[in-house]
Amino acid sequence: MANVAIIGAQWGDEGKGKIVDLFTHDADVIVRYQGGNNAGHTLVVNGKKTVLHLVPSGALHAEKLCVIGNGVVVDPEVLIDEIRALKAQGHLANDEQIRISEQAHVIMPYHKLIDQARERLRGEGMIGTTGRGIGPAYEDKIARVGIRFVDLLEEDTFREKLERNIQEKNFYLKAILKEKALDFDQIHDSYCQFRDQLKGYVTNTGLLLDQKIRAGKRVLFEGAQGTLLDVDHGTYPYVTSSSTITGGACSGSGVGPQHIQQVIGISKAYTTRVGSGPFPTELHGPEGETLRREGAEFGATTGRSRRCGWFDAVGVRHAVRMNGMTGIALTKLDVLTGFKKIPICTAYRYEGKTIDEFPASSKVMQGAKPVYEEMDGWDQTLDNVRNFSDLPLSAQKYVKRIEEVIGSEIILVSVGPGREQTILLKNPFEK
Ligand code: IMP
Repeated sequence: MANVAIIGAQWGDEGKGKIVDLFTHDADVIVRYQGGNNAGHTLVVNGKKTVLHLVPSGALHAEKLCVIGNGVVVDPEVLIDEIRALKAQGHLANDEQIRISEQAHVIMPYHKLIDQARERLRGEGMIGTTGRGIGPAYEDKIARVGIRFVDLLEEDTFREKLERNIQEKNFYLKAILKEKALDFDQIHDSYCQFRDQLKGYVTNTGLLLDQKIRAGKRVLFEGAQGTLLDVDHGTYPYVTSSSTITGGACSGSGVGPQHIQQVIGISKAYTTRVGSGPFPTELHGPEGETLRREGAEFGATTGRSRRCGWFDAVGVRHAVRMNGMTGIALTKLDVLTGFKKIPICTAYRYEGKTIDEFPASSKVMQGAKPVYEEMDGWDQTLDNVRNFSDLPLSAQKYVKRIEEVIGSEIILVSVGPGREQTILLKNPFEK
């Protein structure tokens, strides 16, 4: 019996929603440990689409406990709306099903305002953030001025912290960002209402998880974004502000590393990215358009169209090593149907040198050119394939070659958005 972490191996949007939902059947507890409502996980169940931003994907299964860990930054208004929408669909009948860490930080209106104003001022050099206040909320956490749920719950602590923060942020907003000042009373009143609606969910989730693990319950750690957006190991500064990797699952949930036995990376059979930043295999012509159209590559959170390109083994290899991945779920293989040739990027070229490892330098990464190995494509639709051996031979070879160049076993291949459109080769929970 294993506890499993599911982590994006690329720049996010790898199809984690579907895979987490699939493995949720084998888990008792599902934990979000980083990020916030910058994430968007699309689940398609019985043809019905549900997009979750904050609530862990287990919410669609009545008996699964959903934990929002201490490493998550929570916009309370968004969480309340999401819970309300899920309840309206008949989910979350039992309020005990969702638990929020008392140590999770709260996203405040000034975080969103600062995020958006900074992006406007950056102009060409913008990061392309989701504008949800994620970065500024994590900044406050690290600067030790953030407001946690436990602070929000204590009336005097909340008032004191908010007063101090509003004073500082208003100065910054007006003098530096040329924005209007925010009103203390308005924010205080609305956040007191949010507190009243959410306080029943707030608890010591680290302790709760420990109790569940001791009781033999199986935990699924649900990553958001992806390894290449990790604040340390991604394409800095074009990254998100949290630790998206396995290590982040421990610090962001308060669970020790010995309790995570399996780490499953999710990777598309090609590559996408939203927002700015280097992307060596990006396709700017008709092939990129085809991937976008066939893969419906539009953001679940912001609706932005995703940049598309060929599979980048340098990035995924880096993710395999950085996370200690024990297996990879390869998603959206069906989208590649119809291409005569499918290149795999196995290395980069920069100033006459071949680079096999993911470079730390933003300059090198921006100038890196992909070294491709061409694989044969296939024409058959894969939508109804349920066994690996029923895949066209060239699709099998493509998957096997990816396995070799990234140095990790592929344990699942996804051939469509539906739960049933899956070729499961190994179940990590049954290790
Ligand atoms: P932030 O997380 O809103 O600060 O955005 C920082 C970068 O991460 C931007 O390039 C975003 O487009 C990207 N990003 C954030 N969340 C996601 C996600 O869930 N999927 C893909 N990219 C994301």
